[in-house]
Amino acid sequence: MKLSENKILITGGATGIGLSLAEKFLNEGNEVLICGRREEVLIEAKKKNPNLHIKRCDVSNETDRNKLYYWIKTEFQDLNILVNNAGIQREIDFTRGTADIEKAIEEIKINFESPVVLSSMFIPILRENENSAIINVSSGLAFIPLSIMPIYCATKAALHSFSISLRQQLKKTGIKVFEAIPPTVDTDLDKGARKARGQSDFGISPNETAEAIVNGLKNDEFEIAIGKAKFLINSSKTDFENIFSLMNKGN
Ligand SMILES: NC(=O)c1ccc[n+]([C@@H]2O[C@H](COP(=O)([O-])OP(=O)(O)OC[C@H]3O[C@@H](n4cnc5c(N)ncnc54)[C@H](OP(=O)(O)O)[C@@H]3O)[C@@H](O)[C@H]2O)c1
Repeated sequence: MKLSENKILITGGATGIGLSLAEKFLNEGNEVLICGRREEVLIEAKKKNPNLHIKRCDVSNETDRNKLYYWIKTEFQDLNILVNNAGIQREIDFTRGTADIEKAIEEIKINFESPVVLSSMFIPILRENENSAIINVSSGLAFIPLSIMPIYCATKAALHSFSISLRQQLKKTGIKVFEAIPPTVDTDLDKGARKARGQSDFGISPNETAEAIVNGLKNDEFEIAIGKAKFLINSSKTDFENIFSLMNKGN
């Protein structure tokens, strides 16, 4: 797809993969809107990239989503690309019964419900515009789960499945549906827990991830698997049991 002169909304675009993507899109000559919950982080991103449009929005909150929609409908009606990137990652222990259930529900709402609802809200606008697309950011863990983060992996598997169906349904509208599938990326995504687990490999940079996504979009590669995520996808088909038990050793 053409990657210049677009108007692009990136949820969770003030940090990590979202911010790197925003910067790449700006460099390619696009107008970029980002949203997130923390105002100060959005302001920081705009200080670094004055051309960014920023909006405080919790994508899991209905009122906030409606305000986001109204902002775009009134000021950016030629929006043609939605990037569902906002996400959180939580360790959740079901041996504790309902102790973690609120965290689990929050994770489902942010990682899966929000992309579904936002897609449905913005499809009528995207439909009106040329070169339109929805880009869902899932994860290599959609394909082989880590049992300590069961809801994270399940939401990403659901997003993978949803992306396939949405791509098929939207064929007749001209809206392309992409899925970006990153491996471990060195961002703030639950970094506290990564450190606490003693994880030493923090993965590739957000910049490298964004570069791979942009190249995939340019080549109309609808499932953009990046780095080690390719290994997880292939292994899920050929060697699931082995790789699952290696990844979950000790848990
Ligand atoms: N890092 C990895 O290893 C990795 C691997 C595969 C896939 N991914 C996926 O990549 C995406 C981006 O994550 P990242 O690694 O770049 O981590 P990140 O830097 O923590 O980015 C996540 C962004 O989402 C925003 N966000 C979270 N909840 C939100 C909400 N309810 N409403 C609006 N914005 C919200 C956060 O901002 P606020 O907190 O200010 O809202 C933050 O800017 C996620 O979907 C993640 O699952 C990451």
